[in-house]
Amino acid sequence: MDFGLKGKSVLVLAASKGLGRATALEFAREGAHVHISSRNPDALEETKKYIQEETGNDHVYATVCDITQPDEIQHLVKNSAQTSGTIDVLINNAGGPPAGTFEAFDDTDWQQAFELNLLSFIRAIREVLPYMKEQRSGRIINFASSSIKQTLNNLILSNTFRAGIVGLSKSLSQELAPYHILINTVGPGRIATDRVTHLDQVNADKQGISVEEQRVRMEKAIPMERYGEPDEFAKAIVFLGSEANTYMTGQSLVIDGGLVKAL
Ligand SMILES: NC(=O)c1ccc[n+]([C@@H]2O[C@H](COP(=O)([O-])OP(=O)(O)OC[C@H]3O[C@@H](n4cnc5c(N)ncnc54)[C@H](OP(=O)(O)O)[C@@H]3O)[C@@H](O)[C@H]2O)c1
Repeated sequence: MDFGLKGKSVLVLAASKGLGRATALEFAREGAHVHISSRNPDALEETKKYIQEETGNDHVYATVCDITQPDEIQHLVKNSAQTSGTIDVLINNAGGPPAGTFEAFDDTDWQQAFELNLLSFIRAIREVLPYMKEQRSGRIINFASSSIKQTLNNLILSNTFRAGIVGLSKSLSQELAPYHILINTVGPGRIATDRVTHLDQVNADKQGISVEEQRVRMEKAIPMERYGEPDEFAKAIVFLGSEANTYMTGQSLVIDGGLVKAL
């Protein structure tokens, strides 16, 4: 299948590691101009080099951006568009909020999670839309969580704001379709990254077991009986962000090895 991504300008937020990094790598394999960003300059530079070496694609650009800071998002989008002429694809991604139940969080925690996991996406979309509207074409993919279909215990901040992303994405799909801008939300479920190891550690500590034992227990609950690998997630994202996707918009789907049982 021709994904039509050669020379397209793809912006990936929160891409120094994990799902963002794997997604940037797969887009680079397709010959896109890939703009990666996150807070840690050293990790970002390392990821940029890794992607260039793996793919032979020199059009990989790194810009430091804390996505809780609106001026940094503005700078990132402007800079990326200047370098590659436009933004064709936006991958909205962020670090996960802290684990915990309702009583663990005060207003500051709720505000921070809102800014990290929902407002950042809104701001990034606002910045890329003028480019996409002008060219009457674009793809936006929001990374959320399997909790968009079935809530996860001890993750109330995530459960709440991921649902907000779904509402945002569905509403925007209606507004943006006339411009041929397609927007979808994808929920990862148990893809092996540092975030998942961290959550396994939190749950292992609660139960007084090792992190390895916790992982074995979690894997037993997954029909595929294993955690997913970041590239398995990223390959589906490439399709959604590509020219091969011409009619799929406003959808919320999970990539979770069959974990979620909700219809
Ligand atoms: N992996 C899964 O199975 C899974 C399941 C459900 C939900 N999710 C969600 O999917 C998202 C990505 O997950 P992941 O597993 O890839 O996590 P990860 O391995 O922890 O990576 C998180 C990335 O976010 C960046 N980041 C964090 N805060 C940022 C900020 N304020 N501004 C810019 N970049 C920031 C980090 O880079 P810097 O430190 O350099 O900024 C890093 O590159 C998270 O929201 C996570 O909760 C993942």
